Amino acid sequence: MSSKTLKLTDPAVGKSVDLPVLEGTMGPPTVDIRKVPKELGHFTYDPGFAATAACKSSITYIDGDQGVLLYRGYPIEQLAERSSFIEVAYLLINGELPNGSQLGEFQNEITYHTMIHESMKSFIEGFNYDAHPMAMMVSGVGSLAAFYHDSLDMNNPEHRQLAAVRMIAKMPTIAAACYRRSIGWPYSYPKNSLNYTERLLHMMFSVPAEPYEVSPVAAKALDLLFILHADHEQNASTSTVRLVGSTGANPYASISAGIGALWGPAHGGANEAVLRMLNEIGDVSNVGKFIERAKDKNDPFRLMGFGHRVYKNYDPRAQIIRKACHDVLNELGISDPLLDLAMKLEQIALEDEYFVSRKLYPNVDFYSGIIYKALQIPTSMFTVMFAIARTAGWVSQWLEQHVSEDARIGRPRQIYTGVTERDYQSLDQR
Ligand code: ACO
Repeated sequence: MSSKTLKLTDPAVGKSVDLPVLEGTMGPPTVDIRKVPKELGHFTYDPGFAATAACKSSITYIDGDQGVLLYRGYPIEQLAERSSFIEVAYLLINGELPNGSQLGEFQNEITYHTMIHESMKSFIEGFNYDAHPMAMMVSGVGSLAAFYHDSLDMNNPEHRQLAAVRMIAKMPTIAAACYRRSIGWPYSYPKNSLNYTERLLHMMFSVPAEPYEVSPVAAKALDLLFILHADHEQNASTSTVRLVGSTGANPYASISAGIGALWGPAHGGANEAVLRMLNEIGDVSNVGKFIERAKDKNDPFRLMGFGHRVYKNYDPRAQIIRKACHDVLNELGISDPLLDLAMKLEQIALEDEYFVSRKLYPNVDFYSGIIYKALQIPTSMFTVMFAIARTAGWVSQWLEQHVSEDARIGRPRQIYTGVTERDYQSLDQR
């Protein structure tokens, strides 16, 4: 850490404060404003936390201007090409890539925690068949706390570790159960002989009436998408997980809140929204009209899958997914007009002054939906897939938070703009 400081002065009262400038191992210097309220009597205003670091973290690094994404120092491109989702989950949680026996042990732990309590079936059956699977996920994951209250001592590192493993292991089982509830199929149990993504596909698509062969192309494509979605530093859902976690709430409640945050179309719900948008555009000839709508400030329409709070350059995950999209469709022998439409939309937007000047590029969700569609995953399950992958990041961040020296309950302040103090008036005086 540097000994540099920045001076903040309030000339009106003739007071100054020296604010320490904190340096991470990479990234911009950050002014530590903790002394400001006490020494100057001011709060700081930063809606959307665009200028505020809420924690120190050694998990994920993003350089939004250069389009760089590193998990524990490893470039996303290398992990996408050479790693697996389970290995990445281990890396995010533990900080280092596993050796052979560590990986085997971790895989084993995940595999033997995939079952969910039988009474969760009746819980899921309580939903109407047309419930959105994200609604079922929020409550299904939150309900896990009711099943594991014997291991919810958040001051016990073993309990925390067990909760992290349980969460990664059970997310696909809960997700598949939610999906099968929505289509009226009997629930299927996790198959230990399969790997993480094969098992998920098997739980989603196998039927008791006949054998089901998992497509290796589909399982590999899903694994790639899961690697790319596994973590993304302090995004809205991760910050939600940390905020809930900061109260000492159990991890299932924290992750359930994160799933809720992810659901929004400005965040993880964008993958679903992109596909709906492409269907609505329908044809290349309509692209211009929709681009104009996206630029019109009086129209709430936005180009879904475009823009990012941090990336002011091409999202590196979008580069990888774009290529994977072509590969997967080729390998599966699928020709999808939506891919042509997406490419045309991307090309026109990237040449348009509105998008260029605002540095709006395709984000991770622009092409992911087209791959999910090719894998026959229904649109309403897209964000659920994202949630399964992001669980690795959420639990890593949640574990890190619990050993952080700076951890405090998250409690932002406000600028009050309401009426000033006044006296209560009885009903006959109003
Ligand atoms: N279409 C049209 N205009 C856009 C878009 C878009 N997708 N995204 C941003 N803009 C415009 C804004 O209107 C604004 O214009 P202005 O400066 O003239 O007012 C400018 O670009 C900056 O946008 P902000 O909303 O200030 O950027 P912010 O960082 O707050 O929002 C966000 C980022 C939410 C991702 C936004 O770009 C968006 O809504 N994109 C579409 C939804 C989406 O794809 N979300 C997924 C993000 S990735 C993820 O969460 C996994």
